[in-house]
Amino acid sequence: MKTQSFWEVTTPHRPEFPELEGNLDVDVAIIGGGITGITTALQLTDAGRSVAVLEARRVGGGTTGWSTGNLYVPTGAYYHKIQGSRDAETITSVAAARRSALDFIEQQTVQKKIDCHFSRRPWYFFTQEKDMVSTIEKEVEALQRAGMPVTFVDDIPLLPRARFQKAARMDGQARFHPLRYVLGIATDIASRGCQVYEHTTVIDLKEEKDHCTIQTNHGTVTCRQVVIATHIPIGIHTVQTVAAPHRSYVIAVKLKSGNYPDAYFWQNDTMHKAITTHSTDSMELDMLMIAGNHHKTGQASHQEYHHYFKELEDYARKHFDVASVEYRWSAQHYRSGDGVPYIGLTHKDARRTYIATGFYADGLIYGTVAGILLGDMLVGKENTWLKAFDATRGTNLATAATFVKENVNVAAQYLKDSPFSADAEHLSEISLGEGKVLEMDGEKVAVYRDENNHLHACSAVCTHMKCIVHWNNAENTWDCPCHGSRFMIDGSVIEGPAIANLETKQIDSSNGRLVKDERHHSGQRDLNNPIT
Ligand code: FES
Repeated sequence: MKTQSFWEVTTPHRPEFPELEGNLDVDVAIIGGGITGITTALQLTDAGRSVAVLEARRVGGGTTGWSTGNLYVPTGAYYHKIQGSRDAETITSVAAARRSALDFIEQQTVQKKIDCHFSRRPWYFFTQEKDMVSTIEKEVEALQRAGMPVTFVDDIPLLPRARFQKAARMDGQARFHPLRYVLGIATDIASRGCQVYEHTTVIDLKEEKDHCTIQTNHGTVTCRQVVIATHIPIGIHTVQTVAAPHRSYVIAVKLKSGNYPDAYFWQNDTMHKAITTHSTDSMELDMLMIAGNHHKTGQASHQEYHHYFKELEDYARKHFDVASVEYRWSAQHYRSGDGVPYIGLTHKDARRTYIATGFYADGLIYGTVAGILLGDMLVGKENTWLKAFDATRGTNLATAATFVKENVNVAAQYLKDSPFSADAEHLSEISLGEGKVLEMDGEKVAVYRDENNHLHACSAVCTHMKCIVHWNNAENTWDCPCHGSRFMIDGSVIEGPAIANLETKQIDSSNGRLVKDERHHSGQRDLNNPIT
């Protein structure tokens, strides 16, 4: 079954936004049209700024439209673990920011009448394993200390009491249709003068003394301030050394009973699972979703990525009356060094360039937090959350351990591929529908053989910082194990930090050699110069 986001399929009337044509001058340019970029654009449009959103693909078509649609104050980084490197004020601030963001989304859906199925529901946190009880207890204590109304309970609507060890509940959490929400906001701001562009790829960005210059594939944008809202900043940034890319997996299933509990569950066992439902007036859209199986991007422990979906499906069939598995998809998230996102100016000397990253798998709320916070920062309004999220803390002592760990991990990826060991010696070792990295004429080449036996080849050297990409056979993509860039089979960038596509290659299948064609080598700009 091919991967397909439930949210994409259930957004029938998707508004289209134009490509940029020619040059533009605005107060603020926002790179990225996901929930972070669009929320920031909303705040700045409301504040009277001229704003342009530059989205390389479709608005909401990145991680926002491939999430699970859950809105909650808890965080996958766990507050009791964040306590290990941050003070109590930070914990309270993060919890308060997440709660405010949830309220903000609800207000927007009501005010703008966005048909995105927003509804409040409880969050349950439980374990079936004795060894995990203390985690539940510590997290509940941390949430309570941060002022959150969470309590231990003896009933959860998923399991009889005898089948779980410990459970807690917090009311007032929510779910919605994330893609419809973001498109609703984008449509609103576009109608009020915000310029929203799709299929507009940024290929260079420079912060200069009194302005920023952004080169795109369709024209140049000059602005006084820029927000890089691309999940991880594109180009080369210090924060990439402390934000680790991970992929996680989701399946959406139909139940024979048609009984979808209106709640969100975290099962905190050895194999953590998030279980949620999407239920509306239309039974067609009712779905139970199970998410989990995180691993580092490009570093899956299973060669066969479909294992991750299969494990979720086995879990679903064991615990629920599954009628059919309807959708499956995966998404990327970045983990910060101390469990708290990096939001704000990109580094201490930056004056005009802002970033937001390190959301864990909690990006719908953190993207909204970032939009609110960046909106305030860019108009000079004080916001008490800034101290907790300040992006310039990236490589401070608090995250030093992660800095070392992540860079040892990145170094290990370089070393693993140096000396280079190819996945295969010959093209004949690549089956239909499979991708492998080969050494051909002294070059590392990523080769995919499609179902019609056509070969698609591109350089296997990531254009970000030259790690070797790895084949992802669940999504048919080339994934970089160092900082999470992902590429399509033709080498085009799906998500950064890489900006430039992998260089396409031509193979002569009669002799297995590369075709040396100058057109494939000339004029290729190095677009991954550090963004300054
Ligand atoms: Fe950094 Fe590939 S994403 S080297």
